[in-house]
Amino acid sequence: EKGGYDWFMRKEIYEQPKAVADTLLGRHGADGQLKLDEIRISESELRAIDKIVIIACGTASYAGLVAKYAIEHWTRVPCEVELASEFRYRDPIVGPTTLVVAISQSGETADTLMAIRHAREQKAKVLAICNTNGSTIPRESDAVIYTHAGPEIGVASTKGFLTQLVACYLLGLYLAQVRGTRFGDEIGSLAAELDKMPAAISAVLADADQVQALAAEFVDAPSVLFLGRHVGYPVALEGALKLKELAYIHAEGFAAGELKHGPIALVEDQLPVFVVVPPQGRDLLHEKVVSNIMEIRARGARTIVLAEQGDTSVAPYADVMISLPKVSTLLQPILAIVPLQIFACELATRKGHDVDQPRNLAKSVTVE
Ligand code: F6R
Repeated sequence: EKGGYDWFMRKEIYEQPKAVADTLLGRHGADGQLKLDEIRISESELRAIDKIVIIACGTASYAGLVAKYAIEHWTRVPCEVELASEFRYRDPIVGPTTLVVAISQSGETADTLMAIRHAREQKAKVLAICNTNGSTIPRESDAVIYTHAGPEIGVASTKGFLTQLVACYLLGLYLAQVRGTRFGDEIGSLAAELDKMPAAISAVLADADQVQALAAEFVDAPSVLFLGRHVGYPVALEGALKLKELAYIHAEGFAAGELKHGPIALVEDQLPVFVVVPPQGRDLLHEKVVSNIMEIRARGARTIVLAEQGDTSVAPYADVMISLPKVSTLLQPILAIVPLQIFACELATRKGHDVDQPRNLAKSVTVE
């Protein structure tokens, strides 16, 4: 059942092109219009929404952080992301014109379930993004967008995360379409770009050897940092979470702009630091991340840079360059996370850990 792989996690990493393709299937037509027929919230209700609140835990919450950037940009509707475990304990402001989006692979996470129950008591509309048909969270929501990742057996989420990102992008573009925002004409081209993601993920997977070599090189590192900005920031958080939960080593993700506000004090000789660099089109952001890389390198860090293919401006400051296919900035997380998943999986297996069942963790967390 592991399809020739030694670990479910490895199999699931390699299934990601198909999982993403399956999640996109049938959701937009040749006319460029998105169809999310399963959203049982009327277009007039979707037009009346004045706030979006995304609630989720762990990896799913990082998909939510990416979604915030995309949804606000495309729809201009204010969007917050909150950890489900915090949400109902702070008297959150939600009501009938709030769209609450609950993201959960398993559909059984107790923290997320309790948060949506609270939101519905306040009369908010709840839309679930979920991978498990008929599970509790979609049953208790007003509507659901299913991701079609197939069963995720490995405790650490991989294909679940990528398909959550895809569902979030589809939702954002659909809301933009329904509400007729200024990005209306871009919807078709972004949907077409999403269609190219499975091939782009395959291209990243084809370079796994380079990442495996890195895992061998850093197998004894006591700590690893991950930096990113904009949508690269949640990627950094997710890269760090994967390494913590699988390899049991200290790892942290930071917003690169926060470095000088504290974390740079951690940088010392030989510390491995992964940096997600935005595509070159975003000049200012790109330039700022490149200067962050220069700063940490000057303090002895080993810089492992994930950047767009052909990005020569960052190459001189990279000890290792991991090239990503060219893609719009907002969609880059779909590609940038893949080498970080492979790194965590390879490093953990080298240490002899069970990557399908990391210690102390359960696949679905059904207690608060
Ligand atoms: C990390 C991981 C967890 C889950 C979190 C939410 O690899 O798997 O952080 O993402 O427990 O789970 P779901 O999505 O099932 O609600």
